[in-house]
Amino acid sequence: MDGPAGSGKSTIAQRLAEKLDYLYLNSGSMYRAMTLLSIREGGDSTNVPMLTKLAKSCRIDFLDNGKTTLLNGEDVSDSLRTPEIDRAIVDIAKTPEVRHEMVKQQRRIGEKGGIIVEGRDVTTVVFPDADLKFYINASVEERAKRRFAEQKTRGIETTLEQVEKEIRDRDQMDESREHSPLRTAEDAIVIDTTSMTINQAVDFVLNRVEV
Ligand code: C5P
Repeated sequence: MDGPAGSGKSTIAQRLAEKLDYLYLNSGSMYRAMTLLSIREGGDSTNVPMLTKLAKSCRIDFLDNGKTTLLNGEDVSDSLRTPEIDRAIVDIAKTPEVRHEMVKQQRRIGEKGGIIVEGRDVTTVVFPDADLKFYINASVEERAKRRFAEQKTRGIETTLEQVEKEIRDRDQMDESREHSPLRTAEDAIVIDTTSMTINQAVDFVLNRVEV
């Protein structure tokens, strides 16, 4: 599954994995863990040799079907969704050498199949031969509302306008990135969740899955 921030794809993918008893992989968490590592190492996101070395040597694993992210064995799950990481991730995600290593790790985890993977380039680059592909979308206003509500419950101080601006900026960067930009795979089923509840979206996807 691919799609922009706030489209609902993480919730849909997780619910689907539970219902089908599949593994679940959030590839965004990998880019987030890599971004945390680069911040800890001094945060120079223009230093490509340093980023490449970190990406090659780090190991990212998931426990509890994606609920826990381990970075070199350390549980970093609660440190990945911060405004600092949201800002820094853009430079990390646009570095081809980093993407190459992240894709390798995603393929290592997904090679046996029986997995639902979500991100930005999963249906186009990481697993172009996936049995089933979905592109999950929603209007930018609705996505901003969802992200704002989520951030509020996590105690992050922000405004709806600020969240909408950040989402628009991230969309722009994800779509215009030179390597592996966010785009819809030709053979993907496209879902617009703007006026769907999460249960409706999960049912919509489930109805298209044959196991
Ligand atoms: O999915 P999430 O919003 O957590 O992803 C954070 C960022 O990581 C995205 O905005 C994108 O820049 C990057 N990403 C990526 N490729 C993926 C997954 C995420 O470039 N497969």
